[in-house]
Amino acid sequence: MKNVLILGANGSIARIAINLFLNETDAQLTLYLRNSHRLKNINSNRVRIIEGDVLDIEKLKEAMIGQDVVYANLAGNLEQMAKNIVEAMNATGVKRLIWISSMGIYDEVPGEKYGSILDPYRKSAAIIEASDLDYTILRPAWFTNQDEIDYETTQKGEPFKGSVVSRKSVADLVVKLAVTPGMEVRRSLGVNKPE
Ligand SMILES: NC(=O)c1ccc[n+]([C@@H]2O[C@H](COP(=O)([O-])OP(=O)(O)OC[C@H]3O[C@@H](n4cnc5c(N)ncnc54)[C@H](OP(=O)(O)O)[C@@H]3O)[C@@H](O)[C@H]2O)c1
Repeated sequence: MKNVLILGANGSIARIAINLFLNETDAQLTLYLRNSHRLKNINSNRVRIIEGDVLDIEKLKEAMIGQDVVYANLAGNLEQMAKNIVEAMNATGVKRLIWISSMGIYDEVPGEKYGSILDPYRKSAAIIEASDLDYTILRPAWFTNQDEIDYETTQKGEPFKGSVVSRKSVADLVVKLAVTPGMEVRRSLGVNKPE
């Protein structure tokens, strides 16, 4: 049984992952988000909710205590968020981090250059890769709402494949990474629907 802290728990991937965690694992979830009223229909004795901002380092450290896995599903000031998360994990001795990023951060998508729009994703990934954490960075393709689990992954250094992936697929991979010891540790994975 894993204790999993979900940062940005109202994000579109996180909401699907929460359902998968509850239906398919025995994980205990701590949902960390800025506005807890946004979370609807979550009624489980395996869920604890903390209202907080990832930019609030003290609150973040408190939320880390006793966790086995941190799953960060964030957008916005990702560089500062990554710094805070690494600092809070180091301070509390939590090692395992799953971080949602984006395809394109290494200019690995054939024929595409995403430019400065991805800088927050690049800088945050670099902070995580420079840490001692047991991280897995996910670089998904464009999200779809298809009700399907159908994906493949590519490693850092390999060209990205495909162009889309369902939110449910990314959520499925997050859950597998969270509950499977050693899976894809210190890796950065492209995630796409096979074409
Ligand atoms: N859309 C695509 O096709 C695509 C493709 C690849 C990658 N991505 C990236 O993948 C990531 C996850 O996607 P998603 O759709 O699940 O994201 P999302 O729905 O935009 O969720 C991001 C969450 O981050 C939370 N957040 C932002 N700042 C915060 C802070 N300071 N403290 C706490 N929480 C904060 C937001 O909370 P609030 O609800 O409080 O605002 C929001 O719930 C995003 O970075 C997205 O850009 C997207």
